[in-house]
Amino acid sequence: MVEYQHSPVTVADKRAVVVGGTSGIGQAIALGFAEEGADVIATSRDETKVDETASEIEARGVETTRITCDVTEPDSLERVRETAVEELGGIDTVVASQGAVSRASVRNISDDEWDFVTDVALDGVRRVTQTFAPAMEAGGSIVNISSIAARLAMADLPAYTAAKGGVDAFTRASSTELAPDIRVNAIAPGFVITPQNAETYAEGTEKRDRIDHRTPLGRVAEREEIVGAAIFLASDAASFVTGEVVTVDGGFADSAF
Ligand SMILES: NC(=O)c1ccc[n+]([C@@H]2O[C@H](COP(=O)([O-])OP(=O)(O)OC[C@H]3O[C@@H](n4cnc5c(N)ncnc54)[C@H](O)[C@@H]3O)[C@@H](O)[C@H]2O)c1
Repeated sequence: MVEYQHSPVTVADKRAVVVGGTSGIGQAIALGFAEEGADVIATSRDETKVDETASEIEARGVETTRITCDVTEPDSLERVRETAVEELGGIDTVVASQGAVSRASVRNISDDEWDFVTDVALDGVRRVTQTFAPAMEAGGSIVNISSIAARLAMADLPAYTAAKGGVDAFTRASSTELAPDIRVNAIAPGFVITPQNAETYAEGTEKRDRIDHRTPLGRVAEREEIVGAAIFLASDAASFVTGEVVTVDGGFADSAF
């Protein structure tokens, strides 16, 4: 008789750090990991949100600690790494979900705006990898949050789209260097409702109607719908997946209509 192998699609017993983990998609991932039984540190610049998210993680009966970080400041990421190693006993998974966006056209975007976005969204991802990889256990997993914007022609988002294209390329490049010890993958969400953009994508607006209409699954995503891909990529079920960008967009980016 063939013995049934339990599915390894779980992060129970993993120790995770979620950068940009106190809001939006990152917070949903941090809480989803905690719900699954992972110890999780959710960090961002905002002390109040760090505290609130840590309380929600604790309420799920797993280990966490409260620490802020700014991905533009390498020292602050190093403090998170040292704290995670001390408090959780090691690091198995790191998610980079910090975000920055600027709406300016190619003709008008200033150096400052460009640098602000790329410093957080692209250099930030690079700094997260550089800081945490040396402390990660063999079998570890890094998950970078990219966007379908990396491969779509989108107006007024030159820095954001370029940064996300860079995240996809950096994910592939770093995956070869960090193999075989650490797997590096990205998730490219489509349109996801978060507290920050709830107004922009509010139901009944023309923008929302256009997105819903163009999306094969007929709607935008709830942030919790990005969590499954993150759990898969962080789990041992993805033990042979690296350098991959997993699109989670309801079919939007590849749809012909
Ligand atoms: N919401 C969407 O529709 C969508 C779609 C595709 C991709 N994304 C990507 O998903 C990720 C999360 O976005 P979100 O919509 O949840 O946004 P959000 O604003 O809710 O979350 C972003 C998080 O990053 C943190 N952050 C910002 N700058 C930081 C810095 N310098 N240092 C540390 N933390 C910092 C914020 O405090 C916050 O916790 C981003 O990379 C974004 O580009 C979002």
